[in-house]
Amino acid sequence: MSALAEPDPRRADPEFWSALFGCDAPVEIEIGSGNGAFLLARAGTMPDRNLLGIERAPGKARRLAARVARLGVAQVRTLQADATYVLTLVPSASVAAYHVYFPDPWPKRRHEPRRLFSPRFVAALARTLVGRGELYVATDVAGYMATIRALVLTQGTFTEVEPGDDHPGLETGFARKYRAEGRILHLARFVRRPLAPYAIGQPPLAAAVKIKSS
Ligand SMILES: C[S@@+](CC[C@H](N)C(=O)[O-])C[C@H]1O[C@@H](n2cnc3c(N)ncnc32)[C@H](O)[C@@H]1O
Repeated sequence: MSALAEPDPRRADPEFWSALFGCDAPVEIEIGSGNGAFLLARAGTMPDRNLLGIERAPGKARRLAARVARLGVAQVRTLQADATYVLTLVPSASVAAYHVYFPDPWPKRRHEPRRLFSPRFVAALARTLVGRGELYVATDVAGYMATIRALVLTQGTFTEVEPGDDHPGLETGFARKYRAEGRILHLARFVRRPLAPYAIGQPPLAAAVKIKSS
């Protein structure tokens, strides 16, 4: 095998997602899918994407799985699990987009550690997104959006771009409910930096430093 044909070791096991979906289409993940309104809307607008919805609450996850099965949406899979755990299993640079809509805000200060967004969570998103992969967020809580924005931008891998009028977070169960109540929705869209070119044959940084210092 020529050096140029070597796989980039930072990239995903190519069979990880195709084993779940049965095809190689780009994968998008929604964290906290609730009633699945976003997943079903997205399946209609993006038929060339594989969509995984992760929902922690068992009752909601059961109803979501039943709804997807009833509608026979072939490109959607659902999982009842804590997404922070699932992310530890996802291969690096393998996800085209994450969607996090109306994450529980846990408004009491003593409950803040229960929030989904943390430096560790954002680092997991950065690790698993492909270069130029996207992170879409929506919330009705201005303070939580400010915290999310600070966490994502200080992580150092993301830039923020205009959310756009067609932000997919406007198509969730909570988005529809809150819009009907007249609440202001805060939308954000972040793009992961491209992966730096992988230099075949170069020693890893630690080895290079060792060689230099001996
Ligand atoms: C306020 S609801 C929003 C539901 C949906 N995204 C929407 O906009 O209609 C937040 C959802 O996230 C789920 N959730 C919270 N933490 C989670 C986690 N760590 N992993 C997966 N789901 C989670 C909750 O069970 C709940 O269904």
